[in-house]
Amino acid sequence: MTDKMVKEYSLEKNRIKVVLLEGIHKSATEFFNANGYTNIESFPEALDDNRLREKIRTANLIGIRSRTLLTKDILAGAPKLIAVGCFSIGTNQVDGHAARLLGIPVFNAPFSNTRSVAELVIAEMILLLRNIPVKNAAAHRGKWLKSAANCFEVRGKSLGIIGYGHIGSQVSILAEALGMDVYYYDIVKKLSLGKAVSCSSLDELLSVAHVVTLHVPETPLTRNMICERELSVMRKGSCLINASRGSVVNIQALSQALRSGHLLGAALDVFPEEPASSNDPFTSELQQFDNVILSPHVGGSTMEAQENIGTEVAEKLVKYSDTGATIGATNFVQISLQPNNNAQRFLHIHRNEPGVLKEINYVFTSKGINIAGEYLQTDPEVGYVIIDTESRLSPGVLDELRAIRGTIRVRMLY
Ligand code: NAI
Repeated sequence: MTDKMVKEYSLEKNRIKVVLLEGIHKSATEFFNANGYTNIESFPEALDDNRLREKIRTANLIGIRSRTLLTKDILAGAPKLIAVGCFSIGTNQVDGHAARLLGIPVFNAPFSNTRSVAELVIAEMILLLRNIPVKNAAAHRGKWLKSAANCFEVRGKSLGIIGYGHIGSQVSILAEALGMDVYYYDIVKKLSLGKAVSCSSLDELLSVAHVVTLHVPETPLTRNMICERELSVMRKGSCLINASRGSVVNIQALSQALRSGHLLGAALDVFPEEPASSNDPFTSELQQFDNVILSPHVGGSTMEAQENIGTEVAEKLVKYSDTGATIGATNFVQISLQPNNNAQRFLHIHRNEPGVLKEINYVFTSKGINIAGEYLQTDPEVGYVIIDTESRLSPGVLDELRAIRGTIRVRMLY
């Protein structure tokens, strides 16, 4: 086999077609270009059904945000697609199961907006302890509430962080820099940052904190995690911040704690029911309280986060395209890999059926090709095997791998 023939199998980077929809930040295009991917078609908007089908038919990689729905039907018309990049936090817009059965990993950017959320929480905490929401609302109505009553510095106060993950731990660092005493509670054992103190129970945290902030995921355990009882355990005059998920705080119980004056104030960025778009009305019983900051789920919405998302997802797509690594895929088995610089790498995605691996190995051994490395991960439905060979030219292998029963997709990297 000549070098020319090999190139026919291993698509050169500048021929790999990348389609980016919905005005994805230019940081993504810059990342693709810097890594040799120059065949990029970008659209500022989501495409209608016909145009989407037309574009995805020839795309090798596609990037979307939240308005493009990649259904089973749409994905079935994407024979060349090797991966989907959701330039967003969630991936609900893609039928991940259908994509997996078609051998298409889906990537996203779950942590690109961590800092943005943490900064908003810090700002809200300061505003709440200074009673600014009340003074601001009054000033808009022509009232001049010049008073130091119920106004406090955050320095020396206790912050209770529930959920010490990506966002919770960032909040911890920023709060400590402001001179706060940080306490946290997490169901998983976490390493404390700085002088933060781990609490052994939720109640311990609630009873010590001047400000409680929630940074947990939505799970059966966190649903209504903050209800009447928990609010009553919180210190009188403390504040509650929720920028995690709307289901975590019981709004009726919170209203009651605000009405009774038990809480000094609250800030909510997420709600049990949120309007589907900016054109839909928003109603909440918390609208009656001047001492509550209400924001429309914008904790992570900053230009910096958009830029980070562009780079993070583009990087995952390039890594998958270049090496086959699926770390960070939301619907696929996870394999972490370095590039195989010295020889050929074959990527074989197949239905998880008995005997497939044996047949894959036979393709190589029957030709006397030495396998330098083999990596396999399976889930109940799909298997993903990566084979590094020591040979640089392996005639016929790709076609034989494609012919194996149960094969979904095969690629060769060179
Ligand atoms: P993460 O997964 O890094 O951290 C979550 C932490 O919560 C983990 O340490 C986990 O062990 C802990 N946890 C889970 N269940 C718990 C329980 N029952 N009690 C105590 N701790 C528990 O998640 P990350 O990135 O920090 O996000 C946190 C939340 O913020 C998520 O709900 C996410 O959806 C939300 N979020 C909100 C945004 C906004 O715009 N307001 C933007 C980004 C994330």
